[in-house]
Amino acid sequence: MKALILSGGHGTRLRPLTYSQQKQLIPVANKPILFYAIEDVIEAGVKEIGIIVGPNKEQVIETVGSKDWNAKIEFIYQGEPKGLAHAILVAEEFLGNDKFVMYLGDNILKNGIVEHMEKFKALSPNSPNSLILLTEVENPQQFGVAELDKNGRVKRLVEKPRIPPSNYALVGIYFFEPVIIEACKNIKPSWRNELEITDAIQWLIENGYRVEASIVKGWWKDTGKPEDILEANRLVLDEVNHNVKGEIANSEVRGRVVINEDTIIRNSIVKGPCIIGEETTIENSYIGPYTSVGRGCRILSSEIEDSIVMDYAEIVNAGRIVDSLIGRNVKIMKSDSLPKSRRFVIGDTSQVWL
Ligand code: DAU
Repeated sequence: MKALILSGGHGTRLRPLTYSQQKQLIPVANKPILFYAIEDVIEAGVKEIGIIVGPNKEQVIETVGSKDWNAKIEFIYQGEPKGLAHAILVAEEFLGNDKFVMYLGDNILKNGIVEHMEKFKALSPNSPNSLILLTEVENPQQFGVAELDKNGRVKRLVEKPRIPPSNYALVGIYFFEPVIIEACKNIKPSWRNELEITDAIQWLIENGYRVEASIVKGWWKDTGKPEDILEANRLVLDEVNHNVKGEIANSEVRGRVVINEDTIIRNSIVKGPCIIGEETTIENSYIGPYTSVGRGCRILSSEIEDSIVMDYAEIVNAGRIVDSLIGRNVKIMKSDSLPKSRRFVIGDTSQVWL
């Protein structure tokens, strides 16, 4: 059993962050989203992982390579993000004749995939040709949607339907037998000019192959948009264990909080759930709840709640910041003496309110 994890694509819905950072590398609770997928497939016993990389391939290769994984990892370059089924075709040589789990690298789910992997394997030798993961959602129009028959078998799949046949969204984790490669070769690009995995699975159904569904219990998040990343951050932080390693001086640390090495909290309040990375300084500030602060940050005389602050950001005298995603090396400063003129270096699609 192999794993194919998708970490390509442009991440347009997360601009401007994704102009400089591959979306699957954005941190949730100070860990790249992609690492949750890698950990889940390793936990399910996979030893060979192929990671689809796209435009920012060097970043993904470097970030994944910075850690020791208990599995062999290979990177597979997909020139253009032409769809999830296209990614399978690009990985054809890596996949060979093995069964595999495909995991979209921007998905996070609470309980991992062990239970679903067991279900897929337990049905052997007459295993289904595909096992898809479903969960009930309130906004099925934004996902692939499954129509089930009376016995819970998958009858039909549609990608982002205007009129959804059910509330069962396709979670971005799929178990396949090698026949899916043939299916991907037999479908045509969709209206958005992508080879859709939903069409490939529909091809399996129409050609008499067996497609089963497994329902996901516990939360699941597709982190395609900023509000989804913040929601994933809240869900993951809700499960952190209190662990303070840094220095706390004249400060109050309440609730479940992780504070890493060489971090100093001075004259401040930190309210969990919350995580603060290494070598960060927080002074005269209020942090949390539901906030992740990366490594090497400086937060002085500011309030931050329900937000993600990425590595090496500096926030000084900034007032109250809520529901925000703040990129790496960002500086947010308010000077007391109002300058007559201001100097800016600002990326595309940024917003500045003065
Ligand atoms: O998250 C679940 C949903 O994922 C499913 O319900 C949908 O059926 C499925 O099509 C997919 O929809 P999205 O519109 O969210 O897919 P997205 O384009 O965001 O791509 C998902 C991940 O795969 C993302 O991490 C980027 C990566 N990707 C995407 C494409 C199109 C690639 O690596 N290569 C690609 O060609």
